[in-house]
Amino acid sequence: MTFEGIEGSGKTTQVARAAAWMQAQGLPVLATRNPGGTELGRLLRDALLHSRGHIDAGAELLLMMADRRHHLTTMIEPALAEGTHVLCDRYTDASRAYQGAGRRLGEKRVDELHERWCRRDPDRTYLFDLPVDAALARVAKRRGASFDRFEEEDRKFHERVRAAYRRRARQEPKRFVVFDASQTADSVFLSLEENLRSLFRKRGRA
Ligand code: TMP
Repeated sequence: MTFEGIEGSGKTTQVARAAAWMQAQGLPVLATRNPGGTELGRLLRDALLHSRGHIDAGAELLLMMADRRHHLTTMIEPALAEGTHVLCDRYTDASRAYQGAGRRLGEKRVDELHERWCRRDPDRTYLFDLPVDAALARVAKRRGASFDRFEEEDRKFHERVRAAYRRRARQEPKRFVVFDASQTADSVFLSLEENLRSLFRKRGRA
């Protein structure tokens, strides 16, 4: 399953809580992220998020895809083959939203690369949705000294990213579950936990 949302949506907190909840149920879990789940991914993440020079939008997309492909083949596929549940903090929907819509490359380009190099789709995607203003206010509060290329983008960029996520969720209602992320982390997790419980009850595992 994957976790998505704009900056400041609180999804990373929810990945950690979901992983802890699943472990407590005795379920084997791998919690990981795009970009940055592997050693190569950590190098790519550093370049993609923290380098100050201009990066061509197409190159940015290809590097995100390179991270995803490497992560998928070296970590995710082997874990799934062992019966481990994989929780991934962002995946191809992030490229659709950020590079496809945010950078205006078009989602079709992302889909083509995904089809060619990644293929595997999550069985469930949790989208943590909230208005851009509220999200950016959270980001401003937690911001440390480190420069972040995506957090630096203007409000319109983040509006395009949010709209793309919401559009995708409407297009694929079976895969997506959307939460109101403007609530507290505790109350968002209550809804997430309820959803996880019913998912694993259906599968006969919890
Ligand atoms: P995060 O750890 O806050 O999720 O940071 C990852 C950043 O990378 C975030 O700003 C979104 C961006 N990103 C893309 O632009 N495209 C992608 O395909 C992925 C996975 C992340």
